[in-house]
Amino acid sequence: MSTLRHSLVPLMLLQLHILSGGPAAAKVPALIVFGDSTVDTGNNNYISTVIKSDFAPYGRDLRVGSGGGQPTGRFSNGRLAVDFISEAFGLPPLVPAYLDPNADMSSLATGACFASAGAGYDNATSDLFSVLPLWKELDYFKEYAARLRSFHGDDKAQETLSEALYIVSMGTNDFLENYYGVPSGQAARYAAASDYAGYLLGVAESFARALHALGARKLDLNGLPPMGCLPLERRAATGACTEEYNAVARGFNEGLRDLVARLDGGLGGGARVVYGDVYGAVAEVLADPAAHGFEDVGAGCCGATGRFEMGYMCNEASPLTCADAGKFAFWDAIHPTEHLHRFIAERKMNTTLYVFL
Ligand SMILES: *[C@@H]1O[C@H](CO)[C@@H](O)[C@H](O)[C@H]1NC(C)=O
Ligand SMILES: *[C@@H]1O[C@H](CO)[C@@H](O)[C@H](O)[C@H]1NC(C)=O
Repeated sequence: MSTLRHSLVPLMLLQLHILSGGPAAAKVPALIVFGDSTVDTGNNNYISTVIKSDFAPYGRDLRVGSGGGQPTGRFSNGRLAVDFISEAFGLPPLVPAYLDPNADMSSLATGACFASAGAGYDNATSDLFSVLPLWKELDYFKEYAARLRSFHGDDKAQETLSEALYIVSMGTNDFLENYYGVPSGQAARYAAASDYAGYLLGVAESFARALHALGARKLDLNGLPPMGCLPLERRAATGACTEEYNAVARGFNEGLRDLVARLDGGLGGGARVVYGDVYGAVAEVLADPAAHGFEDVGAGCCGATGRFEMGYMCNEASPLTCADAGKFAFWDAIHPTEHLHRFIAERKMNTTLYVFL
């Protein structure tokens, strides 16, 4: 059974799960996802933006679902962490993009992704590349909730919405594209990155509270990766990480941890909020690649240099794209390979998300 073969559920937890009532009544009946390219499973295919990845070689190693090695709009060679997490909860191995016209309510009933590559907490960040701003992601979620009620009936829909796991992952674009790129909107108003982080955390809190008001009870708020170590952000001459960006990510993450601690238990109604330590997982791989089965963590697999190619620059004509992306931490100059996504998902299951199994 492929779901077992690919299962991320640690054996012990699996056994506990079986002892405590069996897989019949999944405690997480659906995954609901918001954010940017770290979690976008294909929404940008259906909007007008240059931030796209619905062409080869994206998806080259995607080996589940309808296709073998087809691009889906995921910014990776294969599956994303949210896909592995879905599978770990006994849900389908791919989380459907809400805007995908082929995703009908029977598939969206167990998972719906509202994320949009290029998005940020800050409206102005999403506007830079005309991708879905967070408020629009939330609007689509409200539409989804209404459709779920017609599909399931009020009671079952309500149960699904309150037992579902809500995953939120964004913030990198707010800093790299907006604050340090072309500062616009709020980013232009803050001199210090830490003050801008404070603004973003305020948006994150309002968003978490809005989800809770709409019925969410299980939230996973993810921190930033060591964004100064993304291939695009490394020093051109030496390949060293840009430590300033890593420090900004750690500062934001500290604030997010505090926020999670306040919301967890503080939201009421039995709501649980956990912090996704993406930084720690990626830093561990960067510190000792070989121990985790990686050979190259400094450059992306796609393109001649792996230093800047992504999106339209990573295409079938890109020369020298690596043969085995499984040995790379990054697929393009910004985005993790399926291998790194799988590691992040496993680590999250092992350290925080198991509480929802
Ligand atoms: C983002 O824009 C929407 C729509 O204009 C607005 O309702 C919302 O308050 C804005 N969010 C923030 C954090 O400013
Ligand atoms: C998760 O836990 C399982 C079972 O203990 C272990 O085999 C696996 O290596 C862990 N993975 C990560 C990434 O922590």
